[in-house]
Amino acid sequence: MSKADDVFRKHLAMTTPFPIGIEIAKAEGSWLYGPQGEKYLDFISGIAVSNLGHGHPRVKEAIHHQVDQHLHTMVYGEYIQSSPNRLAETLVAILPENLNCCYFVNSGAESIEGALKLAKRHTGRTEIISFRGAYHGSTHGALSVSGNETKKRAFRPLLPNVRFLDFNEENQLQHISSKTAAVVVETIQGDAGVRIPDQAYMQALRQRCTEVGALLILDEIQTGIGRTGKWFAFEHYGISPDILCTAKALGGGLPLGAFISDLSIMQSLTESPMLGHITTFGGNPVACAAATATLETIKQEGLLDLVESKGALIENLLQHPRIKEIRRKGLFFAIDFETAEEVQEVVSTLIEEGLLSFWFLSCPNSFRIAPPLNISEEDLKWACAKILEIINRLD
Ligand SMILES: Cc1ncc(COP(=O)(O)O)c(C=O)c1O
Repeated sequence: MSKADDVFRKHLAMTTPFPIGIEIAKAEGSWLYGPQGEKYLDFISGIAVSNLGHGHPRVKEAIHHQVDQHLHTMVYGEYIQSSPNRLAETLVAILPENLNCCYFVNSGAESIEGALKLAKRHTGRTEIISFRGAYHGSTHGALSVSGNETKKRAFRPLLPNVRFLDFNEENQLQHISSKTAAVVVETIQGDAGVRIPDQAYMQALRQRCTEVGALLILDEIQTGIGRTGKWFAFEHYGISPDILCTAKALGGGLPLGAFISDLSIMQSLTESPMLGHITTFGGNPVACAAATATLETIKQEGLLDLVESKGALIENLLQHPRIKEIRRKGLFFAIDFETAEEVQEVVSTLIEEGLLSFWFLSCPNSFRIAPPLNISEEDLKWACAKILEIINRLD
């Protein structure tokens, strides 16, 4: 065991007894590098974060520039700072008209917490509706609206008044009522194994929320910032949420989240009593500078237009009798096998052989891939060939 490994296992909290545990010294483009020059292709983008790969020169330049101006100056919401201002303007410009006011936080779970509080405050109601299979984060509120019972059990009591429906089941939408403050839903369920809802369902969900005055919160923490070929996956469905949650890829590799709504809704947190939601680091100027550069780069490099063809290429290359199903939107993939054992074997061998993918929390017989949007065709083909080679070695 190396000294670094020893410190990692002894002095950093472990989330599982079996961390991947590879050592990273450097990262560039789609590749991570170990201290002895080991190479790993990041086919999962650090779980849908590094949508521009690692160390994109424009993102680094924006960070350097902001570091030279100033770091943290004050808690969120007090001072006028050009970096969060610019990010808000950039975001609002790519969003529907009703999503015009951004509350910046530090993570995905925090954006869910803020959105739930905002919905309760704005509607004066308490019931939250969520979906079986949902994952919204690990803090108490986000956990309360997540579906994985095994992960929740030890932490009860959680938030009261949360009801769960089956995802993509239109006939259950009548349970959303005038008691409902908000429906919180991943536009495409991620940790349940990339579950893609029907167009008609998403439109009916939007309509039902509008009918009964419940706010629709779309969790696009994993699906946003180009992952599915649109800025946000809801654009595929011709709908718009009342509150949008984003994080992960937003910060271009720095920690940043946001919940975004119409100003008339967001103002509910401003008064009566004021300070309805507060955060020290939300909207950190360096993270916001990285985020603006990320959005601008995705736009300038025309990456959204390339996502579908890259996704289709991967899907075509990964045809194999052991792969039972591929679920995909853009570059957001679940690869299904017959058994969880096959998945375990494939994912761990891939890591040993320099290709990084990952498991799902709630879908043991699939593994996930979500490569950087700007991955080269050469790297993408190498990855698919490697996956097939390893599948061919299975018993
Ligand atoms: C859909 C979704 N929502 C919320 C979260 C929580 O985000 P964070 O880990 O930044 O708190 C995640 C993280 O994986 C996610 O995938």
